[in-house]
Amino acid sequence: MGTLHEHNPSLWASDAGGETYPSLEGDRRCDVVVVGAGIAGLTLARLLVDAGTDVVVIDAGPVCAGATGYTTAKVTALHRLVYRELVDRHGEERARAYAEANQAAVEQVAAIAAGDGIDCDLARAPALTYTQRNEHVADIEAEAAAAQRLGLPVEVTTDSTLPYPIEAAVRLAGQLHFHPRRYCLGLAGAIAARGGAVHEQTRARDVTTGSSGVAVSIGDATITADRVVLASHLPFLDRGGFFARAHPQRSYALAARLRGPAPAEMVISAEEPTRSVRPAPGDRVIVGGEGHKTGHDPDTPRRYAALEAWTQAVFDVETIDYGWSTQDYETVDGMPYVGRLTRRDDRVLVATGFRKWGMTNGTAAAHLLADTLLGRDNPWADAFDATRLAPRASIAELVRANADVARRFVGDRVATLRARPAAALRAGEGGVVRHDGTNIAAFRDDARTLHAVSATCTHLGCRVTFNPAERSWDCPCHGSRFDVEGRVLEGPAVRDLTPES
Ligand code: FES
Repeated sequence: MGTLHEHNPSLWASDAGGETYPSLEGDRRCDVVVVGAGIAGLTLARLLVDAGTDVVVIDAGPVCAGATGYTTAKVTALHRLVYRELVDRHGEERARAYAEANQAAVEQVAAIAAGDGIDCDLARAPALTYTQRNEHVADIEAEAAAAQRLGLPVEVTTDSTLPYPIEAAVRLAGQLHFHPRRYCLGLAGAIAARGGAVHEQTRARDVTTGSSGVAVSIGDATITADRVVLASHLPFLDRGGFFARAHPQRSYALAARLRGPAPAEMVISAEEPTRSVRPAPGDRVIVGGEGHKTGHDPDTPRRYAALEAWTQAVFDVETIDYGWSTQDYETVDGMPYVGRLTRRDDRVLVATGFRKWGMTNGTAAAHLLADTLLGRDNPWADAFDATRLAPRASIAELVRANADVARRFVGDRVATLRARPAAALRAGEGGVVRHDGTNIAAFRDDARTLHAVSATCTHLGCRVTFNPAERSWDCPCHGSRFDVEGRVLEGPAVRDLTPES
């Protein structure tokens, strides 16, 4: 199974079977360590083993248990209304790099799946960004014009197979959707078959650089390599300051079986609330939306309820089989960060900030990093440069995101001075409560047993908040998440919350 203690496994993570890989025991030496067995890390390793590189991939959990296992799995270069925004912020040259990299990623996924014979329900479909409101038609037309100038063969249309009318849509043909876990298991198998190594349940805790190379600490053991790539969501290393340049967003998805065929296209609404729909095998649709900042909504069950209500209202639903949520990072200037962690050192590389479009951005990042590691020029490297400063047009977003973090750091401490006693928690409820004179993060399970851990995030010390839908402790500052036993679900934290008795 692909889940890493998550309360609501995704359609993909629930798909049992597939190869498992042992945790790493003992020291190891290799050319490149890749931290993170999601689509970015595995695609990178897959490209490197073809070039004869000795690669070790490690992951804190199973293959494809992180963001890649909780996506809607659209493989498309049409990212809602991204292109006009990127042109405004970065100019046409960098925006074109984003378009080209993501369109190339669509074809790279298709080529890898075909070349390695990966059975992952891969199918072509057009992608649409649509509006149902007349006042947004101009936004659709502007997006289409920007995308066309950047080289994407889009068109404006009013046609779709959706069961509700649309005013207009920008349409990009020939995109893909697939089963991401099967694709990633296929990648892992191909890596292992070509001499690479994949190790699950192997958490990187630190990276140091020295004269003998890079040392990745995984507890008692160390992997020594020439280079390391951090492809595990937000980098767990604080140098590079990515936690201040990207902010976490949660979003929600469900899989519903219909009493008839699903729409043929992959669609997403231009307006709020975001509604994302794609077909899936077995007359299913996957519906996504309801995004919000991590740790900033105490009523997460209402997010699932809103998606379910919309799906029931719009489609002829037989059953809703799965509901899950996920997290990704938005960068302050809208471009992912791919390349060196810091300007001074080319031995530690990073890929993050895929802004919920990780299937193509992750694949593009792998392509770019493989070129970098193999000493080849890459035409997109400057645009994605991870050490760049935010352009002037994005400074306001940088200030806003960090002011919000500071507010949570101070405000949540003040709020917990008024915390309830632990005895007040009902079954199934969690919260920061008073217990023996201190504040703790406590959850009372359905059998009324209290699970108590420190309320202080082990990353940089913000107060965690309870996420009732996932039964997890989520940090509102940079998005670390922990299960009710305090175990890390996702970083940047690498240490568990301390148990409280
Ligand atoms: Fe940074 Fe919690 S994730 S303080």
